[in-house]
Amino acid sequence: MLKDSFNRIHDYLRISLTDKCNLHCSYCNPVTAALKHLPHAQLMTAPEIETIASTFVKLGVKKIRLTGGEPLVRKDAAEIIRRLSEFPVELAITTNGVFVHQFIDTFKQASLQSVNVSLDSLNKEKCATVAGRNVFDRVWKNTCLLLDNGFHVKVNMVVMKGVNTDEILDFVELTRDLPLHIRFIEFMPFTGNRWDSRQVISYKEILQIISEEYDFIKLKDELHDTSKKFMVPGFKGTFAVISTMSLPFCGDCNRLRLTADGKMKNCLFSKSESDLLGALRRGEDIEPVIRKCVWDKKEVQGGQILTAYKKLDGMELKNRSMIHIGG
Ligand code: GTP
Ligand code: 5AD
Repeated sequence: MLKDSFNRIHDYLRISLTDKCNLHCSYCNPVTAALKHLPHAQLMTAPEIETIASTFVKLGVKKIRLTGGEPLVRKDAAEIIRRLSEFPVELAITTNGVFVHQFIDTFKQASLQSVNVSLDSLNKEKCATVAGRNVFDRVWKNTCLLLDNGFHVKVNMVVMKGVNTDEILDFVELTRDLPLHIRFIEFMPFTGNRWDSRQVISYKEILQIISEEYDFIKLKDELHDTSKKFMVPGFKGTFAVISTMSLPFCGDCNRLRLTADGKMKNCLFSKSESDLLGALRRGEDIEPVIRKCVWDKKEVQGGQILTAYKKLDGMELKNRSMIHIGG
């Protein structure tokens, strides 16, 4: 069992397969990050991912979510999914949705349970502006393909002032007829993404906007959920808010992260990393490295965000850009 010094048990591992992405969303993949992709030799190979994951599973990990960059741009993504599907874990993925049609059979064979799709606008042009490529039609088609194939689909929408706030109600409207789970995510600061607290639309503000159009009810959140869930009675889907900035939810955090270059992060906002891949390649036992990394986890947000977000200077945070962390 992986316990930190605050008695939190960690049984959820997010593995980034690559720091590459076919899209260039400014909040995640800043231009500066795009220029500096990891050299191939520094990436974990499929067998290395399997070996490291097996150690985590032995230590009690019960859920693995694959992330990127965009995990499906990796050439051996299907092989990695197949290898990890052999473990007794709930396997999930977060994707921008563009290549999902090429992987639908792999997802089914691997009994992948939850697919989270990033989609920040329902407007083709705006979507192209945010993502740097005209992908709305493909992403929407693939979202429907996932639903048609019975997957539990969550749609992640990063809410940014002046960008897509005017679409919050359109996203809620989607849940009327579709069993989709929309998550409105407060914009978070990462290296290079030019975060400014004035661009954050908070949990409270998001609910205020929705309440002007819909009567909705609170749903019960699961233990360790990052989101606070709601639904409009009678609608097929739900909506939720991930309130990292205005209402952090670190108290019962159970998450660990592995970057594509095999560095373990004990928090999305952790400054420090533990080099699991280096240890593995030197033939060392990675278990003590994992245990120490978990034990050293800070109580709240990597020990870095200690003020109210409105007073935060994103430039002061020491971290990777989101595309290099994996979400
Ligand atoms: P499930 O709970 O497994 O559905 O995954 P998720 O919602 O955490 O995963 P996803 O990759 O879809 O991420 C959605 C948003 O939650 C992204 O903005 C992530 O950065 C954010 N997120 C994921 N894990 C954490 C975390 O540990 N802390 C914080 N603050 N945000 C997180
Ligand atoms: N703030 C909030 N969410 C972000 N994501 C990426 N960057 C940010 C950010 N700066 C989200 C993406 C993706 C998930 C893994 O993380 O929308 O769905």
